Amino acid sequence: MFKERHFKSYSGLLYDKTGISISPSKREMFHMKIQKLMRRHSVECYDEYFDLITNINDTKHVQDFINTITTNTTEFFRENAHFEYLKDNIEEFLKSNPRIMQNNEIRLWCAASSSGQEPATIAMVLKECLDPRISIKILATDISSKVLKIAMKGSYTDGECEGISKYYLMKYFKKTHNGYQLKHTILKSISYRYFNLMQDFNFKSNFDIIFCRNVMIYFDRDVQETLINKFYENIVNEGLLFIGHSESLINKMHSYKYLGPSIYKKLI
Ligand SMILES: C[S@@+](CC[C@H](N)C(=O)[O-])C[C@H]1O[C@@H](n2cnc3c(N)ncnc32)[C@H](O)[C@@H]1O
Repeated sequence: MFKERHFKSYSGLLYDKTGISISPSKREMFHMKIQKLMRRHSVECYDEYFDLITNINDTKHVQDFINTITTNTTEFFRENAHFEYLKDNIEEFLKSNPRIMQNNEIRLWCAASSSGQEPATIAMVLKECLDPRISIKILATDISSKVLKIAMKGSYTDGECEGISKYYLMKYFKKTHNGYQLKHTILKSISYRYFNLMQDFNFKSNFDIIFCRNVMIYFDRDVQETLINKFYENIVNEGLLFIGHSESLINKMHSYKYLGPSIYKKLI
């Protein structure tokens, strides 16, 4: 039986490793995912499986736990208002960030990039509106090794590509037997890395734009506040932060300037 003490140990471990809090409404789903993992590893007892995922000499089990528990829902052009905003405001953004034109390079971070649809959308949109001499460098990170593997391939089913207009499909994808393959011109602008948002940020230089969408909803208020302030430290002055449409910086201590729904600017 999945007792209260089991829930406390498993959800505590998840919180410590990822920052994710399990809300009461998600408790049953969480339990079902643990049962699925136990069946996969032929373990019958909750305590035994907990020992397995907390064994410091065997990190593959805890990674499998994280891969299974995280929700990786994403899609191309998700919350498209952000991409429209980027296109509509790119000239003004370049004017306020002259360094981009001077270095011929724009640096972005797509934090919690899941299976790659979000960084690929960012790359395609920037290709459309930026001078081709500007090199697009997108760091795309996630805590799930499973989705990172999918992202690196850049291969998607017909269903996954439904939200992409014919124009973008023709220009940036090659047709495959059951879907579409992203062209090299897009994949080469994205570097995929395993990265836990709970860890310290030690990037060699700050980002012009950070996208961190639809992951903060899984974190509690304190974790969210710490995270947005870590982002602030890692964005250039006049740089932008995009968060998910259902997320907000209201009731959190921060120094961003509000630009529009779920769009913020660092302004010193
Ligand atoms: C719902 S998806 C959002 C994907 C994409 N940003 C979007 O908006 O479509 C949330 C992603 O956050 C990742 N994630 C959860 N906790 C994380 C953490 N602590 N560090 C990095 N990524 C995390 C999950 O693995 C998952 O792929």
